[in-house]
Amino acid sequence: MPATTPIPPSIILDCDPGHDDAIAIVVAAQHTNLLGITTVAGNAPLTLTTRNALIMTDLLGIDTPVHSGAERPLVAPPRHAGYVHGASGLDGADLPEPSRPVDSNHAIDFIIDTCRNTEGVWLVPIGPLTNIALALRAAPDLAGRIAGISLMGGGTFGNRTAAAEFNLWADPEAAAMVFDYGGPLMMSGLDVTHQFQATPDRVDKVRALPGRLAELLADLLVFFSHTYTTRHDDMGGAAVHDPIAVMALTHPELFTVVRRHVVIEVWGEHTRGMTLIDQRSLIERRPPNCDMLTHVDADAAFDVIVRAIAAFSR
Ligand code: RIB
Ligand code: CA
Repeated sequence: MPATTPIPPSIILDCDPGHDDAIAIVVAAQHTNLLGITTVAGNAPLTLTTRNALIMTDLLGIDTPVHSGAERPLVAPPRHAGYVHGASGLDGADLPEPSRPVDSNHAIDFIIDTCRNTEGVWLVPIGPLTNIALALRAAPDLAGRIAGISLMGGGTFGNRTAAAEFNLWADPEAAAMVFDYGGPLMMSGLDVTHQFQATPDRVDKVRALPGRLAELLADLLVFFSHTYTTRHDDMGGAAVHDPIAVMALTHPELFTVVRRHVVIEVWGEHTRGMTLIDQRSLIERRPPNCDMLTHVDADAAFDVIVRAIAAFSR
């Protein structure tokens, strides 16, 4: 029986570029049917995350539609991560200006219309979950229409606080709505993404590729890694979080996954934005609502990234 090539998943990538978002865009463009990119405020204000997404489509030479969405969380005040990604949200490389304007400022409508008109769409949010929550609230039928949600966020520990990871911390109300939506949900949290570091030898593999794209991405990874290695006492490079949520769909063989019940804390003085993950062996524990990634074959996964960059390098 000839090996059949798996059908690429149809996805909408919802992002806040962001260095690791930029890498996720490359992997999504190479390995998925990328129906569109939607942007959200997160690592940087919306105008900058949108600009950065457009720049990435230019660098890849793709005309994937880009639609901007929420410029602030549902309830929480807008907060960004310039201390990690720089003032532009994508500091560290000599990037060009975007060649085109954003396709629309109506990401929520794009998500709803696309999911209603296309069977089996995966939503892949890799920033704060504001756009996804707004789409689910405006169109509850999406929960039964989409193939699922594969998100980057959460974990048994945090990075913005000891308890909460940035994407969920930035908009806990949105995160609570998404984790409670009732459909298939995959969670790539810090437990797995911190195993996936842009160490110098891995960055060298990117830099060894021909062309401007590889050079720029290597420069971005060097900048991103510097903010990690100087702020952690045990990391050899940046945790390249976001492409994990894409590869969870395109390269499932690289991951270990467990079923867990996960709920978002929205009230805790010290725990707001935390993913409360039920890991008890108690048989009365709540039924799982989430596939939680716990381990990655990091070398093989980084080779996927290198090959994806190579595919767009000329
Ligand atoms: O906590 C890591 C997440 O926050 C990643 O998605 C990164 O891009 C930032 O958005
Ligand atoms: Ca992100």
